[in-house]
Amino acid sequence: MDGGAVLTGDLVRLRTLGPADYATRWRWDNDPEVMRWLDDGHPEPFAEAVARFERQDPNSYANVSFGIEPREEERLIGFVRLRDAEPETGNAELDIYLGERDVWGRGYATDAMRVICRYGFDKMRLHRITLWVAAGNAAARRVYEKVGFVEEGRAREAFRRDGRWYDSILMGLLESDFIR
Ligand SMILES: CC(C)(COP(=O)(O)OP(=O)(O)OC[C@H]1O[C@@H](n2cnc3c(N)ncnc32)[C@H](O)[C@@H]1OP(=O)(O)O)[C@@H](O)C(=O)NCCC(=O)NCCS
Repeated sequence: MDGGAVLTGDLVRLRTLGPADYATRWRWDNDPEVMRWLDDGHPEPFAEAVARFERQDPNSYANVSFGIEPREEERLIGFVRLRDAEPETGNAELDIYLGERDVWGRGYATDAMRVICRYGFDKMRLHRITLWVAAGNAAARRVYEKVGFVEEGRAREAFRRDGRWYDSILMGLLESDFIR
């Protein structure tokens, strides 16, 4: 990976992450509204989160992470990555979230999805990108559908939130599905 690489979309910029971002990312991981539909694991002290970020951060073909910034300001608002990419199969899995709640609903996640999927197909030569989403996460499902993801399967009642079970939906995007 190019150090400090920047990818630009219509609304957002994707940039590499570093130690200056750890406090912000830890705050997001401890915001129950941001984590509502994500696996929030167990409470984690800042030092443990830093160690986790450091383990994750070296970008490689198999695991490439970016911070999301609005184009008009230098402010980290979210995180997106392609992980477990395999050159043999051309498959990779995608994670995205916007940790700053005040920017939800402005189209930033949709634009960030387009930028990272372009990167995956054009630069990494991927063939298929997948992700898992909780059935109750209507905003995320809408974002993925706007980019061309389709439902491929369901793990029934795999995710529990607020005393209810939700299916976990596997969605996939072939290069030919991609709505650039
Ligand atoms: C889900 C998330 C990524 C969406 O980001 P965003 O920048 O607000 O998304 P966008 O503005 O690009 O698009 C949101 C779309 O969902 C729609 N939407 C929002 N809330 C909705 C709801 N409750 N039901 C149905 N659609 C909804 C919006 O209308 C919009 O669609 P439209 O363009 O057709 O109007 C963001 O809210 C987030 O990171 N949430 C917390 C973490 C998370 O859930 N990540 C995904 C895990 S799989």
